[in-house]
Amino acid sequence: MNDTNISLATAFAGLELHSCLYNASGPWCTTREDLDSIGKSSSGAILTKSCTLEERAGNPSPRYYENQLGSINSMGLPNKGYKFYGEIAADIQSDFDKPYLISVSGLSLKNNLYMLAELNGNSNVSAIELNLSCPNVPGKPQTAYDFKQVVHVLTEVTKVNAKPLGIKLPPYFDIIHFEEMAAIINEFEVSFVTCVNSIGNGLVIDVEKEAVVIRPKGGFGGIGGDYIKPTALANVRKFRELLRKDIAVIACGGVKNGVDAFEHILCGADAVQIGTQYHREGTSCFSRIAAELQDIMKNKGYAKLSDFKGKLIQY
Ligand code: DHB
Repeated sequence: MNDTNISLATAFAGLELHSCLYNASGPWCTTREDLDSIGKSSSGAILTKSCTLEERAGNPSPRYYENQLGSINSMGLPNKGYKFYGEIAADIQSDFDKPYLISVSGLSLKNNLYMLAELNGNSNVSAIELNLSCPNVPGKPQTAYDFKQVVHVLTEVTKVNAKPLGIKLPPYFDIIHFEEMAAIINEFEVSFVTCVNSIGNGLVIDVEKEAVVIRPKGGFGGIGGDYIKPTALANVRKFRELLRKDIAVIACGGVKNGVDAFEHILCGADAVQIGTQYHREGTSCFSRIAAELQDIMKNKGYAKLSDFKGKLIQY
């Protein structure tokens, strides 16, 4: 049921979303069919799988596993190459009345700069989410854990980019790291940050088989779902506190129902992405969670997100 008196609308990076809920980059957002399904759904935006300069098949299977508590993946950036996501932008924009964001995750800074320059020439790309936190390419560290490298990347990227730019961050676990990273981001023309990517290099075990559950990297992979919600909430909360007010914070991590989305917005999220649960449930998660969130808002007497956004009480 959709309660039209209770608005889930949000705006960030100059984009207007009819719903604050949309897909995380990762599950079911690689092919044209995937992206069309998101377009047709209640999702507030369409975000692509992280793309690279060239098409990639990704890591060997099995490379994704989930249980009741969450997921582990080591997909290895399977995607159709940045050109594909640029070429379909005009069609996506004409077919669906919602922002179209491309996630970019080049294997080198040079590749990122090239893709960003190209995508900047495409007026049908609403915004770019630059992924500085992919944990799954053997031999490639997560850029966002190397603060000096982040300064270098943002210096070069903001020279070539004029589009709304977001960065996808990994989770941080120490207050000094939150402070250092926020101070860096605050120096650059960044419109939003997405907190958080999966917790990198976790290990899930099948006790019966006494074996790992995914093949790449000896079973190590990025953890999502319930396992990561407290970490995701903490990252949203801290970055909201520390970042410039004009930088939006997009939440991602452990959202499977309306309560989870409500909690992220209480922490200050301007929008909420759904990853593991979207993988499980498909596009119906966007309308279901929207209805659940509206129900919570109705019971609390809230009509719009700003009635409670960022208003988490602390003692
Ligand atoms: C992949 C996983 C990630 O967490 C990410 O940010 C980008 C890519 C992957 O394995 O495909």
